[in-house]
Amino acid sequence: MSGIIKSSIARKVAMALSAFFLMIFLLQHFAINILSVFSPDTFNEVSHFMGTNPLVQFALQPVLVFAIVFHFVMGFILEIKNKKSRTVKYVKNNGAANSSWMSRNMIWSGATILAFFVLHFIDFFFPELNTKYILGDLSGMHNGEFKYYNELLHKFESPIRVGAYVISFVLLAMHLLHGFNSAFQSVGATVGRKEVMKKIGRAYAILIPLGFIFIALFHHFNGH
Ligand code: HEM
Repeated sequence: MSGIIKSSIARKVAMALSAFFLMIFLLQHFAINILSVFSPDTFNEVSHFMGTNPLVQFALQPVLVFAIVFHFVMGFILEIKNKKSRTVKYVKNNGAANSSWMSRNMIWSGATILAFFVLHFIDFFFPELNTKYILGDLSGMHNGEFKYYNELLHKFESPIRVGAYVISFVLLAMHLLHGFNSAFQSVGATVGRKEVMKKIGRAYAILIPLGFIFIALFHHFNGH
């Protein structure tokens, strides 16, 4: 029994650590993408630097891909284990009385983000990998100028794609509204500062996805 509890705590801590890495990634991803609104040239230069820097490409990016896969696989395992223990332990699951809607639906908001990743990687990540490592073109140029900003504008022309992105970012906000604090709680970092952590979590969970929505809508309506 204690073995099961121990490993379930270890699972939660591992989940939290991958979540921290992803939340830091999300902040830097936002910081770079918001540049596309204020200064396309700076956005192009920073994108080129990130896309060709060996430390980013061969150290940080593999860790990021691992963290994403780990977080999703672990999330599904946790959900299955929780479901099993729920049916055994509780006579009835009181739904809203026991937990928030967000916490009970982490698996669904997570699955939507996973679907978003498939679309997002097809949009940006895979073509970039193809250009760089299969075609061997590391210049970042197209028709004599940096391609990053123009590619972004091109992608956000489609209202269907922008709609899918916006829906995903709303689900991302929901996921973070529970996930941010849950991760800090798993490593004991909320002890003695529950209210402050709640406020920081809420601000992060709402402002970052809202910022991404702004970027997508901005380029959709201003790009052409
Ligand atoms: C308007 C919103 C967004 C824009 C414009 C955007 C743009 C981009 C671009 C241009 C790339 C390709 C970078 C490269 O050259 O390799 C990329 C990759 C990626 N994006 Fe986004 N992104 C947005 C939102 C998000 C969100 C909300 C997430 C996470 C929930 C995310 C996760 C990723 C990941 C994991 C990669 C692959 C790793 C990387 O290349 O850094 N993106 N994104």
